[in-house]
Amino acid sequence: MQGFSVAPAGEGPLTEVPAEGMRRIRMWGFFVAVGGFLFGFDTGVISGALLFIRSEFHMNSFEQGSVVSVLVLGAMAGALMAGRLADRYGRRQALRLEGLVFLIGTAIAAFAPGYGVLLAGRLVLGLAVGAASATVPIYLSEISPKGVRGRMLSLNQLMITIGILAAYLVNVVFSGAGNWRAMIGAGAVPALVIVAATLWSLPESPVWLLARGRKGQARRLIASVTNPATADRLIERFENRQETERRQDAVQGRDEKQRAGARTLLAAQVRPALIVGLALAALQQFGGINTIIYYAPTIIEQTGLTASNAIVYSIAIGVINLVMTIVAIRAIDRAGRRRLMLFSLAAMTVTMALLGLAFVADFSSVLSLVFMVLYIAAYAVGLGPVFWTLIGEIFPPRAHAAGSSASTAVNWASNFVVSLVFLPIAHAIGQGETFWIFGLISLLGLLFVARFVPETKGRDFDEVDADLQSRFGRRPAGASR
Ligand code: BGC
Repeated sequence: MQGFSVAPAGEGPLTEVPAEGMRRIRMWGFFVAVGGFLFGFDTGVISGALLFIRSEFHMNSFEQGSVVSVLVLGAMAGALMAGRLADRYGRRQALRLEGLVFLIGTAIAAFAPGYGVLLAGRLVLGLAVGAASATVPIYLSEISPKGVRGRMLSLNQLMITIGILAAYLVNVVFSGAGNWRAMIGAGAVPALVIVAATLWSLPESPVWLLARGRKGQARRLIASVTNPATADRLIERFENRQETERRQDAVQGRDEKQRAGARTLLAAQVRPALIVGLALAALQQFGGINTIIYYAPTIIEQTGLTASNAIVYSIAIGVINLVMTIVAIRAIDRAGRRRLMLFSLAAMTVTMALLGLAFVADFSSVLSLVFMVLYIAAYAVGLGPVFWTLIGEIFPPRAHAAGSSASTAVNWASNFVVSLVFLPIAHAIGQGETFWIFGLISLLGLLFVARFVPETKGRDFDEVDADLQSRFGRRPAGASR
């Protein structure tokens, strides 16, 4: 776990930004979140490509599963390395490097002559996607003013879903000719966009600049969306806050490394946030979302439709995923995180139960598709975006980067386990029964969220922490932090 951030990260100095400046910040957020697009594209594209790859390379079901999950394995490692990369070279350079690695992985996978090279290409892609998935929330949170934090952080999920949908569309375009190489190769486009954006339009994170003592650059950046006087004031306030934290840490005997490294995560005060972050990361995956996202065409094909028809139907899934994510983004800073999450998990439980029933009782393929779409809607309106938002909000500033890296890595680890065992388990006990297990997990998740997850909407970290600590039966942190 030593890849974690050593520079203090967390809420950045960018506040009090006028409308004009906000437009620029939103544009930056959009480009940073293209990292999420890569994530979505690569996880989505394989579902359609697999239908053609498996016959060309004569792959058995283990080999098919491994092509899907090796990316996830690489992503886990990438997520753990991301913190160090982002600290040493800055958030912007890290993202650029991740874009370049993605291009290399795309080339290897798209030109693969056989199963082995394909697997290697997918592993390289995974490293890039995983590292980007941990870098993006850190970067976004550091350029976000508090009042729009939920929206900014959920841009990540928005771009993930756009990436998935784009992958499905690309699959449709090339499925007629069965050209899986072009499907995978199309990922080079967003990767180039990221590299170009980091070269020409994205600024470095002001938090990183200040941590590196590059005050002049930070000042110019903040002034570019506010004005020079405000920039000076915001920087001073930010530095005072950092100084107070440093003093509190010194009183409690924490040295520089413990302050910001992985070890902060083990502090008793941070434990409730860590439990919530890791549990939500696991819940997001063990609720079964990616069995639908990755295997939708395969599942639909089993209901009697042909391969290219199945890809067309899976577009319905991509569209609803995107549309409901937009609904969530509009609601998240108003309805709050908890409400969206509780509704989402309740609806996921019900729709998974119905989907299981449709398979067990052999309902028509249309009905299965309807339940799948409803399940995706339930996920997209809550658990999808809210997870990525909360991991940017529940950790104290000094454990922010380490906490979100750890949660991201556990998200990928859980994703790996689910994608590897899904087909064998479904084979052993039945597809419908497997969906029932996912439904049960969502139900348990609902109880967990109701009991342990704090509301973060419009709250400062101290208020969030007080709520979190009391949910775990601990004294609110405030004074002791
Ligand atoms: C998850 C991904 C998933 C996607 C689906 C994300 O929040 O982390 O694993 O594929 O949502 O929209």
